[in-house]
Amino acid sequence: MTTPIMTLMIAAVRKAARGVQRDFGEVSSLQISVKGPGDFVTNADKKAEKTLREELLKARPAYGILGEEEAEHKGTDPDHRFIIDPIDGTFNYMHALPYFAITIALERKGEIVAGVTYNPITDELFHAEKGSGAFVNNKRMRVAGRRELVDSLVATGLPNRGNKDHAERRAEMMIMQLRTAGIRAMGSTALDMCYVACGRLDGAWHANLNPWDMAAGVLMIREAGGFVHGLNGEANPLLSNNYIASNADLLPQMKAALAEAKKLPAA
Ligand code: IPD
Ligand code: CA
Ligand code: CA
Repeated sequence: MTTPIMTLMIAAVRKAARGVQRDFGEVSSLQISVKGPGDFVTNADKKAEKTLREELLKARPAYGILGEEEAEHKGTDPDHRFIIDPIDGTFNYMHALPYFAITIALERKGEIVAGVTYNPITDELFHAEKGSGAFVNNKRMRVAGRRELVDSLVATGLPNRGNKDHAERRAEMMIMQLRTAGIRAMGSTALDMCYVACGRLDGAWHANLNPWDMAAGVLMIREAGGFVHGLNGEANPLLSNNYIASNADLLPQMKAALAEAKKLPAA
């Protein structure tokens, strides 16, 4: 049974996805404006955010909206806020790499209670509601069951040229290469978190994020039986702007590896 709020959120991502998908095949002709070094925004991002805001506010005019491309809209209902990223993985999108997603979460009194993340290219729709489980194309998701980090595939995100903390991220990669079976840095945190939720990835971590990158993913992972918190153990990754996620066996092993990385001399 899909609840009215989930129906609305799914309809909104599907509507926004139409334009995103149309432009995907023509990345070379997209108008790209530079927001900052290594951080581009395309017209597709802006159009998709506009569509998401219109669709969500039409049905829930009192709710607030926090999104990447426009200023926060403060609703008259102080308890409800949508958190949206019109395209998570813009760099991939610009390079015609089909690993990006449109993502919406609903926050109620500071807690994420619903999330939808959609990759229009693979037509995979991930959704979760608090207490009702997490699903990919309506199939129940469950985090991976691996127990040893040495057998595990984990994901992270690497800072682009213009971002900070290159040395810290290199140290993490160095240790994780030794402690895991393999690492991926695929370029969409929202999708990485869904991939942890459905067990394609055994775990993931990422520093220096924004709430919209993670909002839906946090709920997907928890509803799929996994654990996620801030890199320093914070209960709410949306407040720490970073996260680490896995199952109960691997999470402490991942944390121990990242602690080892902190002790390496900067290189
Ligand atoms: C980016 C993605 C990526 C992460 C970057 C984010 P954007 O979001 O989530 O995985 O490594 O830090 O900025 O800019 O493509 O919406
Ligand atoms: Ca993002
Ligand atoms: Ca984005």
